[in-house]
Amino acid sequence: MRNPLTTLIARAAEVTTTVPPRPAFLRHCVLALVAAVAAAGSFSAHAQAFPTKPVTLVIPFAAGGPTDLLGRALAQSMGASLGQAVIVENRVGAGGTVASAYVARATKDGYTLLLHHIGMSTAPSLYRKLSFDPLKDFEYLGQVADVPMTVIGRPNLPANTPQELIAYLQREGKAVNLSHAGLGAASQLCGMLLQQAVGAESTTVPFQGTAPALTALIGGQVDLMCDQSMQTVQHIKAGKVKLYGVTTRERLKPLPDAPTLREAGLKDFEVVVWHGLYAPKATPAPVLAALNTALKAALKDPALIKRLDDVGVQVVKEGLQTPEALHAQLSAEVNRWGALIRQAGTYAD
Ligand code: MLT
Repeated sequence: MRNPLTTLIARAAEVTTTVPPRPAFLRHCVLALVAAVAAAGSFSAHAQAFPTKPVTLVIPFAAGGPTDLLGRALAQSMGASLGQAVIVENRVGAGGTVASAYVARATKDGYTLLLHHIGMSTAPSLYRKLSFDPLKDFEYLGQVADVPMTVIGRPNLPANTPQELIAYLQREGKAVNLSHAGLGAASQLCGMLLQQAVGAESTTVPFQGTAPALTALIGGQVDLMCDQSMQTVQHIKAGKVKLYGVTTRERLKPLPDAPTLREAGLKDFEVVVWHGLYAPKATPAPVLAALNTALKAALKDPALIKRLDDVGVQVVKEGLQTPEALHAQLSAEVNRWGALIRQAGTYAD
């Protein structure tokens, strides 16, 4: 079958017989088309060889935090499958939108990827002047993992049980400092739902990720936060923070004594942080296929599964490790959060 660009060259050559000759101009056109064919050929060969150099995985929050920890574990396993290093790069700010905008504009060659969570779906409602569209500017590689959250307090917070915490929040109101990782971050969404469920308004304190927020909590500079088990389990077990409850329907395996917030009386309370892997829109299909294969291989890696299981995190089922499943999840979540955010009238800009 004839390559469309070759056909175009042939047509350009035919034009020389019907149009009064402008030799220099036509020669320029033909040479440009020949160069385009050569570039297309070399790109497709490049795509088949993918990857020939390290891949960058952009993380939208601070190093050492839950997204970073998940990203580094994923990068290691994907790198083993791809036969190339996957290097983590933290690009923080504006609840994860700085990193998303960066990847949306990155070269479409599969060497720049984004790991993001539920925050990808809240961004278009929270940030009305967003420079990218989560539903149009990306290729969707697949869902990755569902991460539970924990509600934790500074070590000397004068509340020892979830019921005491609820009473404390209701009594102290704005005197309570509730930290989070920026508008649209999972910690902010969970904190917002917690305040609604408890019927009390706290003072919120944003950080560039829950890694610095957790340091402030351990140091007693803030009072409370919701954070993903990916980061908190080790600090809870070491007694560095107080644990009040988990945000899942079921208790967590690594924290069997911690009640769910439902058990503690907050009816229907549930937050699970879903994650997806993205590439810039129009990345070539063979490159996307290679990346999806590597994602699936990583999510079967026993070392990765154990690393996550130890902190109560499940990789998603195989049927969700697909572009279609991630796109469907993102679309549904954009609609769900859009309605909630419009109702709440809370915007970042
Ligand atoms: C982080 O890695 O800091 C978190 O994922 C931020 C958040 O969404 O709470």
